[in-house]
Amino acid sequence: MAMVVFGAAGGLGCAITERLVHEFPEQQVIAISRQPTKRRIAGVQYIALGEYSEQSLSQWVSNFKQTGAQLDGVVSTIGMLHDEEAFPEKQLADITADNLEKLFAVNAAAPMLILKHCQSLFDKKHKAFFVQLSAKVGSIEDNYLGGWYAYRASKAALNMLLKTASIELKRSHKKLVVAAIHPGTTDTRLSKPFQKRVPEGKLYSASLSAKRIVHVIKGLTPDKSGGLFHWDGVKLPY
Ligand SMILES: NC(=O)c1ccc[n+]([C@@H]2O[C@H](COP(=O)([O-])OP(=O)(O)OC[C@H]3O[C@@H](n4cnc5c(N)ncnc54)[C@H](OP(=O)(O)O)[C@@H]3O)[C@@H](O)[C@H]2O)c1
Repeated sequence: MAMVVFGAAGGLGCAITERLVHEFPEQQVIAISRQPTKRRIAGVQYIALGEYSEQSLSQWVSNFKQTGAQLDGVVSTIGMLHDEEAFPEKQLADITADNLEKLFAVNAAAPMLILKHCQSLFDKKHKAFFVQLSAKVGSIEDNYLGGWYAYRASKAALNMLLKTASIELKRSHKKLVVAAIHPGTTDTRLSKPFQKRVPEGKLYSASLSAKRIVHVIKGLTPDKSGGLFHWDGVKLPY
């Protein structure tokens, strides 16, 4: 029995790894990141993939199959809002094809490659989950503020891709839940440049968000597959 976290070197990835160990002591928790993680949690198996490419994911899947372990769940925390070159757009004039491509690659394409490669690891007869962290700002219906074009659009694309995959997988994997979860504004590298604007009491620690996310995961049932959920478990509109 194993649960896997992708993006394990990130703020939420690290905290969710720790929370899964706490909540599911019987599980082997596997923490996957591009580079080796600095922080190590006792009992966790750490794997550095280099990149989230078809080749590295396919290699990991074939290594995992050789262990004979059953995959009970995947949490992917992969996502980006900014880096040295890309910063969220305030206006139309800030949009560049490079930013759009980069954010779509990390926020929408990479999670789907993970799901694509992991699907063969899910036992069709067992309950399992595939959870990807998304963001409320990716909700089209809930967009009242504008801005952050590439991040919003790439998360909206992610939500559509996950929903589409959930429909396909409902046919083959009746007990598998595919879900997107919004963690709430959490104190990590991703939110650092924007934390001053967060209302008091609305910036959560990674450990609190991880606790809430794992609580939502525990409540997921196959009929909820394809949904986008707030950290309190309430279903969000697309
Ligand atoms: N923090 C917030 O306030 C907040 C709010 C809403 C939604 N979210 C979502 O929550 C998730 C986790 O975010 P976080 O706050 O923990 O941020 P974080 O600390 O920056 O972690 C993000 C993770 O995404 C992966 N990543 C980042 N850039 C990448 C790239 N260029 N290529 C491939 N992988 C890349 C990294 O994986 P490695 O571990 O392999 O390096 C990293 O662990 C994201 O999907 C984010 O959109 C966060």
